[in-house]
Amino acid sequence: MENFVKTRWYKDSVVYQIYPRSFKDGNGDGIGDIRGIIEKLDYLKELGITAVWLSPCYKSPNADNGYDISDYRDIMDEFGTLDDWKEMTAGLHERGIKLIMDLVVNHTSDEHYWFQESRKSKDNPYRDYYIWRKGRGKNGKKPPNNWTSRFGGPAWKYDETTKEWYMHLWAEKQPDLNWDNPKVRKEVQDLVKYWLDLGVDGFRCDVITYISKTVLPDGTIPDGKFNPIAVGDEYFCHGPHIHEYLHELNEKVLSHYDSMTVGEAANVTLEEGLKYTAEDREELDTIFFFDHVESDMMMQVIPKKFDLRKLKAVFTKWQKGMFGKGWIALYYENHDQPRSLGRFTGKYGDHRKEAAKMLAVSLHMQQGTPYVYQGQELGMTNFKFKSVNEMRDQLATNIWNMIKYIPLVRRLFIPIMNRRSRDHGRMPMHWSADKYAGFSEVTPWYEPNPNYVDINVEESEKDPDSVLNFYKKLIALRKDPEVAHIIKNGVYTEYYPKNKDLYVYERSYKGETILIVCNFKHKNVEFKLPKEIAFNDAKLVISNYNDSLPLSSMTLRPYEAFVYKIS
Ligand code: GLC
Repeated sequence: MENFVKTRWYKDSVVYQIYPRSFKDGNGDGIGDIRGIIEKLDYLKELGITAVWLSPCYKSPNADNGYDISDYRDIMDEFGTLDDWKEMTAGLHERGIKLIMDLVVNHTSDEHYWFQESRKSKDNPYRDYYIWRKGRGKNGKKPPNNWTSRFGGPAWKYDETTKEWYMHLWAEKQPDLNWDNPKVRKEVQDLVKYWLDLGVDGFRCDVITYISKTVLPDGTIPDGKFNPIAVGDEYFCHGPHIHEYLHELNEKVLSHYDSMTVGEAANVTLEEGLKYTAEDREELDTIFFFDHVESDMMMQVIPKKFDLRKLKAVFTKWQKGMFGKGWIALYYENHDQPRSLGRFTGKYGDHRKEAAKMLAVSLHMQQGTPYVYQGQELGMTNFKFKSVNEMRDQLATNIWNMIKYIPLVRRLFIPIMNRRSRDHGRMPMHWSADKYAGFSEVTPWYEPNPNYVDINVEESEKDPDSVLNFYKKLIALRKDPEVAHIIKNGVYTEYYPKNKDLYVYERSYKGETILIVCNFKHKNVEFKLPKEIAFNDAKLVISNYNDSLPLSSMTLRPYEAFVYKIS
């Protein structure tokens, strides 16, 4: 393997996330698949994105929609074959689009061969691929400690065959791998190499900050602090060997390819984020942090009132803290988050399009690599759930099963899920106003949001004012010689951090500056040009209202957003 000088291509990319089950059904079984993605390659090209992050498409019994992998080297039957995958990858590459695969290696499926072997006996060669412990209490029938799974309930499952417990930080069917075992790390290195050799350009590393756990000797395992779905977090998030293990993976495999990684980094602080991404440390290239999507949420599930000042403070912290030192992923939406419309904009009423465009501007002009989640480019919205029966995600159904007999709490379930459910973003993509949103010709695995009749790709392509056409313009700015270098390299300065309605910042590079102004409210808001800004030959770069107004002092209209090049 040759040593590569990295081109850092991801710093110029806009990434589009595909959740394959919900993107497009290509073989008429009601489930999205790889042939469906192949049908839409030209759509992706026209959108202007330059990389795709594909959520897991490996063999899986689908306890967690593919995030439970039973064979890392093959494709899930419902999604197609390895040949389909090769055709899709070649099609992406022909169109200048890179492919980032999901790398889910904190855990496997319990149907993976390694686990099937591991559970057979205590001296099985695969035993130490997973984390097994004796139970507490007289007969060892109490879990080794009080740690909880991120899906609720204990993080341990008793296994009758060897009368021990295995750890699962997510579902019971997702046993955690033991990264302290060098054989496990070697397996991961080999499978990463396998996909890189097949032409993959990068990896989104699932829950990667959880791979190194505090050593857990029997009987002395510490109990964690109270938090219903995250007891024990402090013992396994950013654990003792995390940086060592990531560096090893980078050194042994990733650094030999022109590849990139983006780590899903729950609970990451700026300090820790810098360790993960600083180029000279050679661990990950970029991370997804979470504190902005927690600006309206407590403990990841309990909604609280959204406060723009908090959101801005998070962005400013990361923009300033990472500048010149690391690189971040910019996102509002993904398959674990509700849609951003309504969430960060309040009730948008008849200003859906303006609000969706404004959110896009607020994010895409920051430094980092922007991610667009399927349907976000149409301004797709959250669904109004009336019953748990309309939900598919096991996080929702597990929570319901835990609280359904508690009278006062059960009443909160629907309001909370309408704000928080992961199902919102997992409903089928809206391709047209045809039956089932043009996603499938037969009853799909998940009914689409009925508003597909108005919000869909076919309509959006025809409407010059659509969110989709706006996204195309915004994405194109990352290649526009007038501004691309400023967006990529510019110093970030925020104005009016205490303002509850407006997000105003500038990016400045070698004497050239762009000013970004976003009204997050469904009402007119007064805006005054910051005194520090000289505004002589300002040139409009992009705006979500067709008629731009003189800038010195003005009233911004609902969700108005614009970017000016001011020097
Ligand atoms: C990540 C994935 C999520 C999954 C979890 C367990 O957070 O994004 O969808 O449920 O990991 O694999």
